[in-house]
Amino acid sequence: MSERNRTVPRVGMVGGGQLSRMTHQAGIGLGVHFSVLAAAPTDSAALVCGDVTLGNDRGLDDVMAFAKANDVVTFDHEHVPEPVLRAVEEAGGLLRPGRDALRFAQDKLRMRTRMAELGAPSPRWRAVTALEHVTGFADGEAGAGWPVVLKAARGGYDGKGVWIAADAEEARAVVDRAAAEDVPLLVEEKVAFSRELAVQVARSPHGQVAVYPVVETVQRGGICHEVVAPAPGLSDEKATRAQELAIEIAQALDVTGVLAVELFETAEGVVVNELAMRPHNSGHWSIEGARTSQFEQHLRAVLNLPLGSPRTNAPFTVMANLLGGTDPDVYSRYLHVMAKDPGVKVHFYGKDVRPGRKIGHVTVMGDDHQDLLERARDAAAYLRGDDQ
Ligand SMILES: Nc1ncnc2c1ncn2[C@@H]1O[C@H](COP(=O)(O)OP(=O)(O)O)[C@@H](O)[C@H]1O
Ligand SMILES: [Mg+2]
Repeated sequence: MSERNRTVPRVGMVGGGQLSRMTHQAGIGLGVHFSVLAAAPTDSAALVCGDVTLGNDRGLDDVMAFAKANDVVTFDHEHVPEPVLRAVEEAGGLLRPGRDALRFAQDKLRMRTRMAELGAPSPRWRAVTALEHVTGFADGEAGAGWPVVLKAARGGYDGKGVWIAADAEEARAVVDRAAAEDVPLLVEEKVAFSRELAVQVARSPHGQVAVYPVVETVQRGGICHEVVAPAPGLSDEKATRAQELAIEIAQALDVTGVLAVELFETAEGVVVNELAMRPHNSGHWSIEGARTSQFEQHLRAVLNLPLGSPRTNAPFTVMANLLGGTDPDVYSRYLHVMAKDPGVKVHFYGKDVRPGRKIGHVTVMGDDHQDLLERARDAAAYLRGDDQ
């Protein structure tokens, strides 16, 4: 460990993805020492970070050594197995969020059980170990009806691990495959939501919280495409309820750092979809759109510093994800996008371009969210480059 500049804390982030890369960027501003445990030198954060440990970002030995080398360790994904987290904490490693909180972001069955205990509005659901559990849920006592949503309790992201089953035959295929692969499953009613929302709250070990405005997220095929902050036309009542819910969950689960709560908006109110305990795609707008970005806020929270203002910088901020197309040369298209719309901010993560992969995002700010959506979509579509 370097003894240089030991007046600033050493923060380590497990995982070398774009969340780590953008947290590093915030860490530069704060002047803290930021290091990353990355699986490969080509990982998004490993390409730019000055202090990279290459290793298994899910494995005991490497996460343990990483925790010993840092004052506090945080995460850009939730895939570090619980026994590893436990061993690191027992050895004195400081994990934020800690294992007791992370358990609920790692496992959707546990999360659903805990949300029920807290009385948080949730879809009807049940654990599934046999097809009868699904058919009983849809046709029987729960009366949830078809289609239903089947989910892998662990390991899913960007819609991988979520299946809609229209009938028992489709459910059987999912249940059989999950059984063969030893993946725990749950079934949820398919919520007839009007749109998807998300809210970010940061919580420090002190117990200070800072909550961001509720945003609208547009998902296609399980992948987030666009975010509008704040969610246009959301009633004050629902917005406040969503923010209170996020704070309650952060407190009850003893979360430290940023918690993202994904929600469904329905006629009756808001319903919890899932939790992430890290900076989240639905908060990327905050880099330009809020006084304190979610990345800086996450660092402040895990360092137990006072939190920054989550106030917005414009009436609306729109973020559109840049998904990979077939032509990898995204940079060659900067010229046109930047010349056409100087208000567009381009973020590119340095990842290999593969069709459908999240490789960057664009952000625009202003007064008219429809106009901003068009500009953001236009820029993202052009950068993707498929139609050239
Ligand atoms: N119970 C549900 N009812 C309706 N749509 C759902 C339900 N659960 C998930 N979805 C849809 O699938 C997407 C991905 O599900 P989610 O549980 O958030 O998985 P992931 O971990 O991949 O983000 C959601 O954003 C939503 O569009
Ligand atoms: Mg999700």
